[in-house]
Amino acid sequence: MARSFRVEVSRLPAWIDWQRLLGPGGWKVHENEAGQLSADADLSRDAAADLAARLRGVGLGGNLIEIRISPALSRKELRKAHTEEARRYRKGSPGFLRSGTQLDPEGRISLTPEALALELGERAKGLRVIDAFAGAGGNAIGFARAGCSVTAIELDEARRVMARHNAGVYGVADRIRFIAGDARRVVAEHEADLLFVDPPWGGRYNKERMTLDDLTPCAEVIESATRIPRIWIKAPPSFDPATLPGCRPEAWFGVGAGDDRRVKFLLLEKS
Ligand SMILES: C[S@@+](CC[C@H](N)C(=O)[O-])C[C@H]1O[C@@H](n2cnc3c(N)ncnc32)[C@H](O)[C@@H]1O
Repeated sequence: MARSFRVEVSRLPAWIDWQRLLGPGGWKVHENEAGQLSADADLSRDAAADLAARLRGVGLGGNLIEIRISPALSRKELRKAHTEEARRYRKGSPGFLRSGTQLDPEGRISLTPEALALELGERAKGLRVIDAFAGAGGNAIGFARAGCSVTAIELDEARRVMARHNAGVYGVADRIRFIAGDARRVVAEHEADLLFVDPPWGGRYNKERMTLDDLTPCAEVIESATRIPRIWIKAPPSFDPATLPGCRPEAWFGVGAGDDRRVKFLLLEKS
């Protein structure tokens, strides 16, 4: 009979879709007094190694996830699972799907995968949206394709030109007003139904815990949005929602095989 491995995962936030994160396995889940979840299950060798490769060193909602496996897996098994995980990561959740789009290195790494940008757009359907940190246009285009009228602000002139070009590739350039400038100043001057904030996370952002102060100039932009009733903030998985009082966190997973159990970002709704 194939050997089974006892897997215990702890320090998960109560708001996480743990079934999606952990995958199949007859998990028993408990919530502690601090509102954190822990889960345990008996898994096959491969499933345990996959989970270790995906969750070890990952922070979620401000806490590093803990994972214990017994008996311990060999280094060779873990290395193999890591290689496989890295391959899935490269293939998962592509950015723009159409050809002819333009991206610089920062625009590429910060681009919201097209499928997720469209899903965000569907949720905002028909609203007047300000995209405060437009980058190469991933989200602005997603909102415009879902019928929103969009004001897209971008500080970097070359990236703003790329975003406009990319909007043309998707046939929505007429639904997006591009503004070159600093969101800290521009947002205060505009009215809208929804402010979307996707600030730079930093090239090598802290995978264990990020706070509002780490996401400059996010706080200033939020404060300046006095004429906008709803705010969505796209933050790294390790973001600690306690540092943004009054927000409701939600984990957004990737799409496609292998990436659909990985948290790509948190969406924090602040109203
Ligand atoms: C994470 S990227 C946005 C990615 C975009 N949501 C997408 O999916 O393509 C953040 C962008 O914010 C821009 N940025 C940084 N500070 C800014 C500011 N004060 N005002 C406007 N844009 C800013 C950066 O140049 C960068 O392109």
